[in-house]
Amino acid sequence: MRIGILTSGGDCPGINATIRGVCKTAINHYGMEVIGIHSGFQGLLTKDVELFTEKSLSGLLNQGGTMLGTSREKPFKKSVASDVNKPELIGQNVKELGLDCVVCIGGNGTQKTASKLAAMGINIVSVPKTIDNDIWGTDFSFGFDSAVSIATDAIDRLHSTASSHKRVMVIEVMGHKAGWIALYSGMAGGGDVILIPEIPYNIHNIGETILNRLKKGKPYSIVVVAEGIQTNGRKRAAEYIAQEIEYETGIESRETVLGYIQRGGSPTPFDRNLSTRMGGHATELIATGQFGRMITLKGDEISSAPLEEIAGKLKLVTEDNDLVVQGRRMGISFG
Ligand code: F6P
Repeated sequence: MRIGILTSGGDCPGINATIRGVCKTAINHYGMEVIGIHSGFQGLLTKDVELFTEKSLSGLLNQGGTMLGTSREKPFKKSVASDVNKPELIGQNVKELGLDCVVCIGGNGTQKTASKLAAMGINIVSVPKTIDNDIWGTDFSFGFDSAVSIATDAIDRLHSTASSHKRVMVIEVMGHKAGWIALYSGMAGGGDVILIPEIPYNIHNIGETILNRLKKGKPYSIVVVAEGIQTNGRKRAAEYIAQEIEYETGIESRETVLGYIQRGGSPTPFDRNLSTRMGGHATELIATGQFGRMITLKGDEISSAPLEEIAGKLKLVTEDNDLVVQGRRMGISFG
């Protein structure tokens, strides 16, 4: 069999480990030929590809980013710029490249595109990828643990400067419309206030939490905010929350936006092994002719689910999440 592999959407640690897992299993275990497709779905439109050999795959496990490059190309999105029928061109190029299947590694946008390509009759297997951990149907996606690890380290570093200056330090983490990174890194990093899009906040409650800490002899606080929280139209959540807290409490407040650092560097061991497992199982689906499916992690089991059940859905934090419940019981404010 000859398979193609592409990476699409935001980059993150673990993509290269997944490419390695798919390709080494395909080549060594199943005797497949593997074609690397550059720059996500753009590479399928332009047939920008390379034949993978064992050599192409060496040194990938601990490398951040994606050696194939990525893009946010959405071939089903109507564009006035060009009247090319992109889905049709992709179908034609898949045939001309002689691909028996295309492995798509990506987040929600990628899963949506993959589902539509599968519905057109192209053999697709997809692997969930995002630091946001907001992909429906899988407990975790690789990239998330690495982003949480980076964010937690950053939060740890804020405690000393907050206590030295008796300030409120507000840190903004990524996550798009979900609060998973803020919740996991906020709890791991000892946040006193954690704001996520899924739980509405009230600035007076936040001020009360911070002033209560002051009364108990803790004249500083750590506030972790997800980028997707409501901010009255202000662009940066951290800037808005820091200003509101300083106004509400009179305590000096400063903000940090962690940004793209959360998507850089080497994957954690957890993400490396999750990537390896998901990549290997993706190749197993191909070898057994199970197409139109996304690889999933349920508990410690790797499984898969139909793409049409995944596409277009978001997995968000719920109030009964155990970290939220335990945090509240310890006096951590969720706004
Ligand atoms: O989906 C991953 C992510 O990093 C989000 O957390 C963030 O909101 C978005 O990508 C940023 O998109 P871009 O890389 O296009 O700036």
